[in-house]
Amino acid sequence: MKKVNEFITDTKNPEDTQKIAGIVGENIPEGTIITLYGDLGSGKTTFVQGLAKGLAVPDEYYITSPTYSIINEYPGKLPFYHMDLYRVSDFDELYEIGFEEILEQNGVIAIEWPERLPDDFFESYIKIDIKILENDERKLSVITYGLNLPDLIQKLSDLNIS
Ligand SMILES: Nc1ncnc2c1ncn2[C@@H]1O[C@H](COP(=O)(O)OP(=O)(O)OP(=O)(O)O)[C@@H](O)[C@H]1O
Ligand SMILES: [Mg+2]
Repeated sequence: MKKVNEFITDTKNPEDTQKIAGIVGENIPEGTIITLYGDLGSGKTTFVQGLAKGLAVPDEYYITSPTYSIINEYPGKLPFYHMDLYRVSDFDELYEIGFEEILEQNGVIAIEWPERLPDDFFESYIKIDIKILENDERKLSVITYGLNLPDLIQKLSDLNIS
């Protein structure tokens, strides 16, 4: 799938990562798929917490990795699904827990460990890539594939966190 927009920055702490994620949450259309790449402890769930804020998920929901439940659903501006595929080895498992129905809801779906899905599974999506640098710093990339979101990229550039 073709890369369309790209925004790359370093974040110095979890709050910066969440600020960026919040802007993403506020500026994505319904049906957006967000795949999150990065090592264990790099900040994927931290990013999803900011994303939820941007999608107006009420504060009483505290977001943790659904490593065992695989999927959690939250109410907000749009239905919001948070998936963690770390423990998914067999693709059929996903269909047993209703992945197909979720894809039809036109909500926002954030997926940790999307490496478990077949290649080119989604036609358009936003890829978040997090690389651990020194101390609490992270290199954070927001890349859209098959999806043109210039307003989002502009707002991310305006944020000027570092
Ligand atoms: N710049 C930063 N951005 C994001 N998280 C950071 C940053 N600096 C430190 N952290 C810390 O790194 C940890 C990231 O944990 P988190 O659970 O978000 O990782 P994860 O990528 O979801 O891991 P897993 O693969 O185990 O689900 C948190 O404790 C967070 O506070
Ligand atoms: Mg996680």
